[in-house]
Amino acid sequence: MQLTVAHDMENLQATLAEFARLGLSVALVPTMGALHDGHASLIRKGKELADVVVVSIFVNPKQFGANEDFDKYPKMLGADVNLVGEVGGALVYAPQVDDLYPEGYATTVSIAGLTDRLCGASRPGHFDGVATVVTKLLLRTLPHVALFGEKDYQQLCVIRRLVEDLDIGVEIVGVPTLRAADGLALSSRNAYLTPQERLVAPKLFAALNQVAALLQAGNLVSAVLERGKIELEKLGFAVEYLELCDSDSLAPLAEYEAGARLLVAAKLGGARLIDNIEV
Ligand code: PAF
Repeated sequence: MQLTVAHDMENLQATLAEFARLGLSVALVPTMGALHDGHASLIRKGKELADVVVVSIFVNPKQFGANEDFDKYPKMLGADVNLVGEVGGALVYAPQVDDLYPEGYATTVSIAGLTDRLCGASRPGHFDGVATVVTKLLLRTLPHVALFGEKDYQQLCVIRRLVEDLDIGVEIVGVPTLRAADGLALSSRNAYLTPQERLVAPKLFAALNQVAALLQAGNLVSAVLERGKIELEKLGFAVEYLELCDSDSLAPLAEYEAGARLLVAAKLGGARLIDNIEV
């Protein structure tokens, strides 16, 4: 199928109406662009689960704090559209800010509890912005399935919660994190790493695996996490959090249990890196 690019609601709806007329099921892959192989794996998974894949590309101002990287977030729409075409997406929806948030727009979707901790603690308002735009994208496209990377694990939990709470009839699928050969989780923000920092960055994933092994061996959770943070700081990371959490509620766990999630956020130079693994 020929790739269509829609920049506004009208063209989006026209193409979706055509998919519906042809009886095609739809997978949505919401993105902020600067697409990489991780996004390609979401699109490929979407193709397995539905007849056509819609990729939204929108750098959502509502999920960036005042001192964050909204202005410098990498933008490369031409290359992104090419990637979606190569991987076999059917529709790119790349709206302008006022298409999604026109004059007078006043609604925020906010999820209590789940968004207070981890990334929510250092990025106040971030998950309100994510939840608001994802709700709008889901309601505009009404997909059968929507796919999100597990790299943003807290985001995935937030989106599962909102879909359940708001009775949005879409299946949310989490797709495992894609990693570079050295273990670094693929992320558009890796572009902020200097060549020197890029050599250090994979040590974040290595540390997660070391911590996981110590937890599985029965060591005291608080001691292992404290030690893990110290080791990361020695390597040059400024650790925001390193936590063992319940995999659904993200409540912190004082004792190891199988299937728990180990999550980390740390700054390395100008890049804020996040990663997580199941333990
Ligand atoms: O993960 C992202 O790229 C964004 O947070 C999302 C889900 C596209 C919402 O803007």
